Amino acid sequence: MNAVKQQSTSSTTKIPRHVAIIMDGNGRWARLRGMPREEGHRQGVENVKRIVECAKELDINYLTLYAFSVENWNRPRIEINALMRLLESFLKSQKRDLLEKQIRFRVAGRLDEMPKRVARLLHETIEETREFDRWNLTLALNYGSRTEILDAVRRYSESVREGREDPDQLDWTRFSRYLYTADLPDPDLVIRTSGEHRVSNFLLMQSAYAEYYFASEFWPDFGPDCFRRAIEAYAGRERRFGRTGEQLKNKSHS
Ligand code: IPE
Ligand code: IPE
Ligand code: MG
Repeated sequence: MNAVKQQSTSSTTKIPRHVAIIMDGNGRWARLRGMPREEGHRQGVENVKRIVECAKELDINYLTLYAFSVENWNRPRIEINALMRLLESFLKSQKRDLLEKQIRFRVAGRLDEMPKRVARLLHETIEETREFDRWNLTLALNYGSRTEILDAVRRYSESVREGREDPDQLDWTRFSRYLYTADLPDPDLVIRTSGEHRVSNFLLMQSAYAEYYFASEFWPDFGPDCFRRAIEAYAGRERRFGRTGEQLKNKSHS
C-alpha cells in the first residue's frame, strides 16, 4: 500500500519526457473476435487518438508511435493498402485536431517511399504544425533502425566529402544529427503491447538507455488506464546510466 502510494507520488515528478510505443497486436485483437485484421487496425487508430490525448494530459512532451516498419512491406498487399488508407484518413481527420491541441507532428522513416497521396498529407501536416514545440507527436513510418543508420552514414559521408564534417571530430552527438530523430531527445520509456518481448528494429540506438515496459494487452485495448500504469512503472524505476545505486542516492556522482 505504502509502496504504491510512494510510487504514485513520485510519478507526478517523474514523468518521462519522451515515450515511444511499439503498437502491436491489432491483427490478433481482430482475429480473436472473428474479424478481419483491418478492423484491428481501425480500432488501433482509435486508440492512437486516445493515447495522444492522454500523453498531452500527462504533459509528456514527446510521443513516438511505431506505425509501419520497413519489414511491414512484406505483408500481404491487401493489408498494406488497408493500412495506407487508414493512415490517409487519420491524417485528414487529425490535422485540425493537432493544430487545436498545438501538437507538432513529425515522421521518422523514409517518407519518399510512401504512397504519393500519403506523403503529401504527411508533408502538409509537418509543415502546418512546425511552429509548436511543447508537445510533439512522431509517427515512425517506413521506419527501421538499420535503414536509419545506413541513411545517416550515407549523409554523413557526403558531408565529409563536401568538407562540412571532420571524421576526427566524430562523436555520438554529431552523428545523431543525421538520424531521422535528429530533433528528438532519446526516448526515456519504450512500451510494447501484445505480450511480445522484442524490439523489431525500433529506435535501437536512441533507446540505448531507455526503460522498457512490456504490456500483455493488444494495442486496441491498451487505453489511457494501461498507459498511465506504464508511466507509474517508469516512475518507480531507478535509471543509473552506468553509475551505482549508492552514487545516485548520495547525488555525489563521483
Ligand atoms: C501492429 O499490429 C500494427 C502494425 C504492425 C502495422 P499487428 O498488425 O502487428 O498485429 P499482430 O501482431 O499481427 O497481432
Ligand atoms: C512492429 O510490429 C512494427 C510496428 C508496430 C509498426 P510487427 O508486428 O511488425 O513486429 P514483428 O514482426 O512481430 O517483430
Ligand atoms: Mg505484430
